[in-house]
Amino acid sequence: MKLHQRTILLTGGTSGLGLEFARQLVALGNTVLVTGRDAAKLAQVQRELPQVHTFQSDVSDPAAIGQLYEQVTTQFPALSILLNNAGEMRKLNLQDPTRNLHDVTRELDTNLAGPIRMVQQFLPHLLAQPTAAVLNVTSGLALVPYPLAPVYGATKAGLRSYTKALRVQLQGTRVRVFELIAPGAKTPLNDAFVGDVREKDLMDPRPLIAQALRAMQRDKEEVYPGIATALRYLSRLAPGLLLRQLSKGVAESLARLRPPAPTTR
Ligand SMILES: NC(=O)c1ccc[n+]([C@@H]2O[C@H](COP(=O)([O-])OP(=O)(O)OC[C@H]3O[C@@H](n4cnc5c(N)ncnc54)[C@H](OP(=O)(O)O)[C@@H]3O)[C@@H](O)[C@H]2O)c1
Repeated sequence: MKLHQRTILLTGGTSGLGLEFARQLVALGNTVLVTGRDAAKLAQVQRELPQVHTFQSDVSDPAAIGQLYEQVTTQFPALSILLNNAGEMRKLNLQDPTRNLHDVTRELDTNLAGPIRMVQQFLPHLLAQPTAAVLNVTSGLALVPYPLAPVYGATKAGLRSYTKALRVQLQGTRVRVFELIAPGAKTPLNDAFVGDVREKDLMDPRPLIAQALRAMQRDKEEVYPGIATALRYLSRLAPGLLLRQLSKGVAESLARLRPPAPTTR
């Protein structure tokens, strides 16, 4: 599909992979609408890329999605691509008794319910365009559980399942459905995982996003940059081995997270 002179809505475009998407999509000559929660980060993107349009919006909040829809479709009726990128990953100790029931599912609202609600809200608009697309950013951790970030992996596996179902439901329409199965990348998302993930295993966002955009231009529905290709095959051929590999060091890392034990005196 053509990725030039398009109007593209990109969630979480203020950092990491999203910011790189914004840079490359602007360079290709598109109108890019960037969302995020933090006003200071949105202002920073605006300074770096004066061509983008920013919207402060929290993808985990259904009311905010409704407001975003009104604003965006009024100001940019030619919107034809939705790029669901916003996400967060947390290291969670499931034995932590202080974790409350609301907090434990926080990533579900942003990483899974967020894209599902965005699609639901914007789909009628996309279906009315001459050609349109949705791209959902999942992860290599959709293919294998990552015991240090158990809820994150569940959200990405869920989003991958939803994306495949969405593609089937939209067959015969003018809306294409793409999935970026992203490998570990050098972005702030991994700041909390220093010592758990080897720096040299993290991919530079520039070639990663370039590969994702080339795949969209070639109508390739799924793209597995870098080490995600190895995860794709290993998760089928040796899923147990892969899980054991990703389980190494989990107990030690979680032990470092635990609040100090109460003193007995
Ligand atoms: N980096 C990796 O290793 C990796 C690997 C596989 C997949 N991914 C996926 O790639 C996507 C981007 O991750 P990243 O590595 O670029 O992370 P990042 O650098 O932490 O950026 C996350 C972006 O999402 C925004 N965001 C977070 N929660 C949001 C919310 N509720 N509503 C709206 N915006 C929100 C953040 O801005 P605000 O905080 O201002 O809202 C920021 O712009 C995520 O879906 C992630 O799961 C990343």
